[in-house]
Amino acid sequence: MSLEKMNYLQLNEEPLNTETKEINGILMTKTISDNWDKIWNFQAKPDDLLIATYAKAGTTWTQEIVDMIQNEGDIKKCQRANTFDRHPFLEWVLPPPLNSGLDLAIKMPSPRTLKTHLPVQMLPPSFWEQNSKIIYVARNAKDSLVSYYHFSRMNKMLPDPGTLEEFIEEFMNGRVLWGSWYDHVKGWWDAKEKHPILYLFYEDMKEDPKQEIQKILKFLEKDLSEEILNKIIYHTSFDIMKENPMANYTTLPSSILDHSISPFMRKGMPGDWKNHFTVAQNEKFDEDYKKKMAGTTLTFRTEI
Ligand code: A3P
Repeated sequence: MSLEKMNYLQLNEEPLNTETKEINGILMTKTISDNWDKIWNFQAKPDDLLIATYAKAGTTWTQEIVDMIQNEGDIKKCQRANTFDRHPFLEWVLPPPLNSGLDLAIKMPSPRTLKTHLPVQMLPPSFWEQNSKIIYVARNAKDSLVSYYHFSRMNKMLPDPGTLEEFIEEFMNGRVLWGSWYDHVKGWWDAKEKHPILYLFYEDMKEDPKQEIQKILKFLEKDLSEEILNKIIYHTSFDIMKENPMANYTTLPSSILDHSISPFMRKGMPGDWKNHFTVAQNEKFDEDYKKKMAGTTLTFRTEI
């Protein structure tokens, strides 16, 4: 982003539009809804790589890993731009004069790596038609919820999450942006039977980054030396990414992301939900979870 644009946003202290509007029963921002036809008709290409996640599943982390792989461990190349400019966020519409993800994606030369949080049934059909590769990353519900709650507090483009108690209710009912976590992870899990989707888990990435990065290498048909692989593991660790301004979202003005409320790179730890859920909230959540996840082969670890 140019300095001019940043200054504009720093000065523009007007509250951002956080209105929401459903598309096919899924809660979205009003701006996404208003641009939906254009998003739905996006033209994917066979050599596109899409990183798809439910919000807060480790998208940025995966983006950094993928970029490091594509640039064969060249840190300088990976610091050429902010995460959101390197990998357009397909459905995200930023306040002017910032580029929306869709415009960036259309302008970007191939091969492109794109990001989305769309539930599987809302993915523009051209991705299926073009057989583009997709990496889906899933994270356990409780840590996703806690991360989403803190992110909603600091991100001025998202609706105010209220108290954690209120947010837990909204999350369980799928009344949050991008809809139900339960339907999202299950929908993409089923889609991998028919489409080239590498389905990864945040908890596995944390426990054994080498193994999970190797899965990505294989999926992308890439081969890198042990030395570069180790460099990627180091450069994409939580502590290093937290200090990387091109990956930690600190270049956006505080009128958009207020890191003094909660940093984007917050904890990066499976099991942090235990510091937030009360015993009663946990029991209620687990009971509801069992019903919503009945009948799927998909399982999660809530700690490692
Ligand atoms: P927490 O809020 O639990 O810390 P997304 O990129 O999908 O928005 O996900 C953000 C979450 O991923 C945040 O979780 C963030 O700290 C975590 N994260 C980002 N980079 C990470 C890394 N290198 N290792 C582990 N977690 C990371």
